[in-house]
Amino acid sequence: MAARRHHHPFFEVLIGRVGRRARTATLLLFLGGVAGCASASHATPGPADPSTGSAETASAQPAPAVFTAEQAQRGQRVFSTVCSVCHGRNEFRGPIFAFTWMAEPVGHLFEHISTNMPQDRPGSLSAEEYAAIVAYFLQLNGRQAGDSELPADAELLGRRRW
Ligand code: HEC
Repeated sequence: MAARRHHHPFFEVLIGRVGRRARTATLLLFLGGVAGCASASHATPGPADPSTGSAETASAQPAPAVFTAEQAQRGQRVFSTVCSVCHGRNEFRGPIFAFTWMAEPVGHLFEHISTNMPQDRPGSLSAEEYAAIVAYFLQLNGRQAGDSELPADAELLGRRRW
């Protein structure tokens, strides 16, 4: 059943392809902050975020993601049919998942799975199905369902946090 082709050692997750750019940007901002403290003449702002193209992501606080229980249930069905051939649901909750994905907006995971998964048929699901899977992952991570659906839109999801 667990036919994953390869296994991520923790270190690989740490330096993982996923979200590396965002983490690098964060590191640069952090180092920029340190340099700013050390030298008062260091007045240049931190690097702009080239990935999602929005200063918004960096400055405005993203709103929490809202999804419905029904949407999460649909996501669970798609997950069981399509994703569970290769993945166990426990891969999508807990500290490593949080470290890899949750520091960034939910849109990042939405885009990742929309373009790369299922690995044998990338992009083969509808945007609504990918959004429903994200709703399911939110629920797996203890988020409470609300009364509006998670939009199936990368741009909007880029402004929603876990
Ligand atoms: C045919 C096997 C297969 C199927 C089906 C599949 N995946 Fe994957 N998935 C993989 C493999 C292998 C990796 C690790 C390599 C990679 O990232 O490409 C992966 C990686 C991932 C990752 C990144 C893991 C991380 O945290 O770094 C996510 C998220 C993911 N899959 C979600 C899904 C979802 C959601 C589905 C169902 C729509 C799905 N996968 C279906 C094989 C599969």
